[in-house]
Amino acid sequence: MQVLFKIIRQTKNSGARIQIYTLDVEPGNTILDCLNRIKWEQDGSLAFRKNCRNTICGSCAMRINGNSALACKENVGSTLRVTPPSDSGVPEITVAPMGNMPVIKDLVVDMESFWDNLEAVEPYVSTNARQVPEREFLQTPSEREQLDQTGNCILCGACYSECNAREVNPDFVGPHALAKAYRMVADSRDRQTEERLEKYNQGTEGVWGCTRCYYCNTVCPMGVAPMDQIGKIKQEILDRKDAQASRSIRHRKVLIDLVKEGGWIDERRFGLQVVGNSFRDIKGLISLGPLGLRMLARGKFPFTFEPSEGASTVRALIESVQSLESEQPHI
Ligand code: SF4
Ligand code: SF4
Ligand code: FES
Repeated sequence: MQVLFKIIRQTKNSGARIQIYTLDVEPGNTILDCLNRIKWEQDGSLAFRKNCRNTICGSCAMRINGNSALACKENVGSTLRVTPPSDSGVPEITVAPMGNMPVIKDLVVDMESFWDNLEAVEPYVSTNARQVPEREFLQTPSEREQLDQTGNCILCGACYSECNAREVNPDFVGPHALAKAYRMVADSRDRQTEERLEKYNQGTEGVWGCTRCYYCNTVCPMGVAPMDQIGKIKQEILDRKDAQASRSIRHRKVLIDLVKEGGWIDERRFGLQVVGNSFRDIKGLISLGPLGLRMLARGKFPFTFEPSEGASTVRALIESVQSLESEQPHI
């Protein structure tokens, strides 16, 4: 079958342009096979990263029809199955460089910030732990099992490329780093859990910077589910801290309390308790003024609050989830 490959090409100092290559391909050909053929048969100047050709090294991540993925894992058939046919009737596949990282050339991006952010979470078991045993630090099979999912990360960058939080917040370390962070928190040999949790709890650099858009879970080719790992770190923090510790923690705890009480959020109390810290934070209270005035002006200020009809059902649901969570082993 004939397929048009629309490749977004650019160099460091030039704007992006689309170059189209036509190939005769089989549905089972991987996108990487196709790129190799374009490079070897049509245009040796096309630049992209590759190595293992087998979903191991993480080198070949790029955007294939809009989603970051491994070119050696995706094939023509599966890519076209989810792509609407083009106007010309000839199937098209668009290949672009990953997002959230500057382009060096064509499909090759500069991953410096990706590696720096990984380094920022100290992705090594603490040296304190290594001093404990004489020869080695043994783990039980169930302790080792805790690391299986996060240990699958091949550091391809697909999650980082699609991360909405990373796009708007240059301080956020990114899903790959926080998945690795959870791997360290869950590691029975590590002796810095408290320090690590303190660090990931800071501002919006760590777990509270995640907007829970779910993209990292969707695109990860290895099933690492970074957003789920971020959720586990949040839970560890929430279990250790009370609502006074930070606005992010208050936000989560007050939200749950209010929904449990009324079935949905009483916005007046939410603002006062989270931002105003129940009248303890005067600056926070003052910062609510302009929003309150805008809501008043547009007739949207909620003077009263009616609990939802299903409040008792919502409460029962939350309580059963909380009781399940309390049965989970803690780190
Ligand atoms: S978490 Fe998944 S998508 Fe992100 S770097 Fe690791 S393997 Fe790639
Ligand atoms: S869920 Fe969070 S970490 Fe994952 S891509 Fe969205 S904002 Fe980024
Ligand atoms: S070439 Fe190694 S993961 Fe694709």
